[in-house]
Amino acid sequence: MVKHRESRPGQKTAGGPGAKPRRDMPGKSPAKPAPASRPAKPSRDHGERVAEPRAAAAAAPERPLIVRSGERPAERVPVILESLGAGDFHLIDSGNGLKLEQYGPYRIVRPEAQALWPPTLPSHVWDNAEAIFTGDTDEDGMGRWRFPREALGETWPLQLLGVDFLGRFTAFRHVGVFPEQIVHWAWMKEQVEAAKRPLKVLNLFGYTGVASLVAAAAGAEVTHVDASKKAIGWARENQALGRMEKLPIRWICEDAMKFILREERRGSKYDIILTDPPKFGRGPNGEVWHLFEHLPLMVDICREILSPKALGLVLTAYSIRASFYSIHELMRETMRGAGGAVESGELVIREAGLDGRTPGRALSTSLFSRWVPK
Ligand SMILES: C[S@@+](CC[C@H](N)C(=O)[O-])C[C@H]1O[C@@H](n2cnc3c(N)ncnc32)[C@H](O)[C@@H]1O
Repeated sequence: MVKHRESRPGQKTAGGPGAKPRRDMPGKSPAKPAPASRPAKPSRDHGERVAEPRAAAAAAPERPLIVRSGERPAERVPVILESLGAGDFHLIDSGNGLKLEQYGPYRIVRPEAQALWPPTLPSHVWDNAEAIFTGDTDEDGMGRWRFPREALGETWPLQLLGVDFLGRFTAFRHVGVFPEQIVHWAWMKEQVEAAKRPLKVLNLFGYTGVASLVAAAAGAEVTHVDASKKAIGWARENQALGRMEKLPIRWICEDAMKFILREERRGSKYDIILTDPPKFGRGPNGEVWHLFEHLPLMVDICREILSPKALGLVLTAYSIRASFYSIHELMRETMRGAGGAVESGELVIREAGLDGRTPGRALSTSLFSRWVPK
């Protein structure tokens, strides 16, 4: 599956479960035909528009792919990494094209195109949410937050895996964290804590830095890369909130591809690399990121900058029309001769009910592929 959170065409109706369509609640309606050319797309990032690239303008200087030999790593497929939530987050319920989530003290309703089923909980529970993403949820529409109970500030404190950060009502329905990634973050935390040396972790497309903070708190030396100054600012705010300023994190505002090309030239090495690229993105100087064009080279370079004792290369992909096999086979081809195994599948979040402990339906959020040395 794919994280369709980036944008969803044509959702303009529906209230709480079973409610009649209302203007101010996102829901289901026939998708509008896509315009012939889409100048800008909301991305699953920090709420800024990301222009869909037309040509490889301002692309980072590239290099050819390395021809790999040797055996492909063993494979483990399909692997479904499931989370019932953790810390201050769980998915309460979903249905009718919406999801109801708990983020600390707040219940939040947001669009979720994959929730084709009916909701479990009655509509009064949904209607009682503290925040509802409403308004124009067209593909390139901004949308807005509605706070039916009382006006809320832009941010509020949250905790995941022992790390403090700020939830944030951003444009394009995002809340400053993508908690479905928590299974990868928990895995990474275990690796860092179990290692008898400070691991070097590279977090590409790192957004508000929650994964970087989790890694640093566990004892890693972290390099965090994101193209958005705003997102890096929020990440630093999160670091300050958790009084983690002294932890070794390099915050780098740069095009991810440009950064890793330079790291490769310098001979830098990392023990764990997380990469969570959007379908389209832009570097700070207009560099174009186009997943289907650039992912093979990105994975190729990531392999080159893995240390000889590397513990993992973790790739997630959302909002793309592809099977997990597509990134799985790319990973296996790229990791030829490296040994270990490639495990791939989907990240899913299971509904956990109002109490956060009652398992319900599974909501798929992304594809992933991860190389591990064993
Ligand atoms: C969905 S977010 C990643 C979420 C993050 N992995 C997490 O779980 O918190 C995508 C991020 O990619 C960044 N981005 C987009 N294009 C980029 C590029 N060319 N280079 C670096 N970062 C980029 C955006 O600024 C955004 O923060």
